[in-house]
Amino acid sequence: MSMRSHFCGLLNKSQADQTVTLCGWVNRRRDHGGVIFVDLRDKEGLVQVVFNPDDAAMFELASSLRNEFCVKVVGRVSLRDAGLVNPKLATGEIEIVCKELDILNASVTPPFQLDEENLSETTRLTHRVLDLRRPQMQYNMKLRYKTAMAIRKFLDANDFIDIETPMLTKSTPEGARDYLVPSRVHDGEFFALPQSPQLFKQMLMVAGFDRYYQIVKCFRDEDLRADRQPEFTQVDIETSFMSETDIRAMFEGMIRGMFKDVLNIELANPFPSMTYADAMALYGSDKPDLRVKLQFTELTDVMKTVDFKVFNSAANMEDGRVVALRVPNGAELSRSEIDAYTQFVAIYGARGLAYIKVNELEKGRDGLQSPIVKNIDDAALTQILERTGAQNGDIIFFGADKAKIVNDAIGALRIKIGHEKGHASQDWQPLWVIDFPMFERDDEAGRWTACHHPFTAPKDGHEDLLSTNPGQCIAKAYDMVLNGSEIGGGSVRIHREEVQSKVFRALNINAEEAQEKFGFLLDALQYGAPPHGGIAFGLDRIVTMMTGAESIRDVIAFPKTQRAQCLLTQAPSPVDEKQLRELHIRLRNTEAKLAEVKRDEA
Ligand code: AMO
Ligand code: AMP
Repeated sequence: MSMRSHFCGLLNKSQADQTVTLCGWVNRRRDHGGVIFVDLRDKEGLVQVVFNPDDAAMFELASSLRNEFCVKVVGRVSLRDAGLVNPKLATGEIEIVCKELDILNASVTPPFQLDEENLSETTRLTHRVLDLRRPQMQYNMKLRYKTAMAIRKFLDANDFIDIETPMLTKSTPEGARDYLVPSRVHDGEFFALPQSPQLFKQMLMVAGFDRYYQIVKCFRDEDLRADRQPEFTQVDIETSFMSETDIRAMFEGMIRGMFKDVLNIELANPFPSMTYADAMALYGSDKPDLRVKLQFTELTDVMKTVDFKVFNSAANMEDGRVVALRVPNGAELSRSEIDAYTQFVAIYGARGLAYIKVNELEKGRDGLQSPIVKNIDDAALTQILERTGAQNGDIIFFGADKAKIVNDAIGALRIKIGHEKGHASQDWQPLWVIDFPMFERDDEAGRWTACHHPFTAPKDGHEDLLSTNPGQCIAKAYDMVLNGSEIGGGSVRIHREEVQSKVFRALNINAEEAQEKFGFLLDALQYGAPPHGGIAFGLDRIVTMMTGAESIRDVIAFPKTQRAQCLLTQAPSPVDEKQLRELHIRLRNTEAKLAEVKRDEA
């Protein structure tokens, strides 16, 4: 039973003349020459309530209503006259003529009007409770719930069971910094909050559960970017006795079903897949946005001998790269637009943005407009025009530098210019990126690190490369990408001890260190561990895309800021000396900190 008979936002003319009881909040009150109108809001939307002056006591009470008062209204559903219908409101054909008004609770004046646009995020996060009352946020949270439910239904129907794993645990190998929790009982020792349940889900496979899932919080203390949160939610999955292709087929099915259930959108069937090598070659990214139709053209080989230092020095660097990006109709870009793009790629470290405008191919060099063609010999120029498939009216941009800079800079330019200049579709473009390398080179540390994590299996037949040529070793690892965002990633795991040892050796982790860090997993793997693998999806990222939200913070009820703070609760915050003492902790910078506090207070 509920105090209400109906929800405000769900009323329509089919309830005409019925008496309804509504509970909600005053969105706005308007006084119109002797009549008071209140937009009453609940989780389903708004409806207009009318107070007539004939009931003087009720009318006076209605006059005292202010924004965000919580009220109960008993009233009659009345059809509005044709001229008064509000087509912008779902309930705009009706209004409620109030018979009884009950103020359940008053509200102090809210710090902002809830339907105000362009509220600053600081305001919204500081007053998150009110922000969450806004219809957009109610929609986002509901859509998040529906998405999670669609996922749970799919997994349940496929025999997966939800098993909880610890939050107070040991460091896991996802490669970010850990959030640590000091132990009171064990002086000087710490738990780590899990970066993911990776090791536990593998142990659950050894334990014979066969199909596990969990919608679970993960914690990573890393530099925050737009699509990252320090605590975020994974749909974490692991299965036994399924191959890499089986796993991919099953979970693209899950994502397809979820889009269909929640948004009635049909994603491609099957999802296309692309090797990591092709993704880097064509898009300079391991999560290409396939809505953008532009591609890189490789020119490193041609530029090795060209008499233009910018290009030949990059082409001859050990890890250098020269690429072109052809943009159809780009010849019409103005000087200032090109300058703006040049500044844009500079963010990614590019030292310039050479270009050729293709005005009239028939005229040869004279038909090209460019600050660099004079430096490019005929053979190389022919290669540029042929390989890019240049047409009159195009512009060709160039990136020449270390491969990482070229990939980041021209990759970002591809997306920006593609969306800005109409070379992108407006649909959904899912993609599997597969065949990731096992290792990437950490030049600073002068060693190999795992691209995914150290429990990822190498491709069949690649085991020997682990010792002979780790850089060439391909992993059974895959990422799911949607519109240029990495929404999930996983791998088939190593289930045999001798392969695991080789991987540790390639990573320069000795037996002792492996035992100390992951001994519990290695021990478990010895008891007839089944072949297993899995994947984890970033629920926050998926829901951000599905709602069209601007920020990952718009789909999390109580998120952290870019500076990893909660503006609502003011966490993190200092703690009592007593608490610290119990935890055996002495702060290093207490005195400096106290001085700072004093200075701030002064
Ligand atoms: P991975 O580290 O790729 O894999 O994480 C899986 C997915 O989680 C999302 N994600 C994040 N979302 C928001 N904020 C973050 N800081 C953040 N970090 C990651 C991404 C990503 O694709 N244990 C492995 C999975 C496995 O091998 O099964 C793992 O955690 O969408
Ligand atoms: P410069 O020789 O430095 O005057 O550069 C000639 C042209 O090459 C200019 O259009 C620059 O924007 C461009 N350029 C310079 N460095 C690079 C680079 N690393 N990659 C691409 N274009 C560059």
